[in-house]
Amino acid sequence: MKTVSVCFVCLGNICRSPTAEGVMRHLVDEARLAERILIDSAGTGDWHIGAPPDERAQHAAGQRGYKLAALRGRQIAAADFERFDLLIAMDDKNVAALRQICPPGQRDKIRLLMEFVPEADSRWGGTREVADPYFGGAEGFEQVLDQCEAACRGLIAALRPQLLA
Ligand code: 4NP
Repeated sequence: MKTVSVCFVCLGNICRSPTAEGVMRHLVDEARLAERILIDSAGTGDWHIGAPPDERAQHAAGQRGYKLAALRGRQIAAADFERFDLLIAMDDKNVAALRQICPPGQRDKIRLLMEFVPEADSRWGGTREVADPYFGGAEGFEQVLDQCEAACRGLIAALRPQLLA
């Protein structure tokens, strides 16, 4: 049975990447692909290792039916490039940080989450990034969720042919 493994990556691993992980788990379960698509998340920084997701992220996600409470922060490491097929970053700074620890020949595994939003979806003005909501208000967390929902649907659609091939 073919599988694919993805790790979502942001700065702290307490807002954006756990949200992406929670949304992706939910959609993958719905699509009955939980045994095929393996999902994790991590941060490029080390401040929140072992911490649960930010309360605001948990609350916003919970209102849409995504449970983040069991997730815990961890820091990305070079060894993750061996474990995962795709390391999916939230913004360009995350991409730069991933490139710094990327072993030779593994750069193609680094992608931006927003690459997976279908072109027809013109929300967010064509931005390539999921903005950091940490220092802002509740609307930032809603936008993170909107972007994660659209991109994770696109990601599942992009992975399906590989799983069936
Ligand atoms: P995240 O958000 O990268 O989406 O988890 C942040 C969380 C914490 C910090 C920055 C961004 N921080 O500076 O502690």
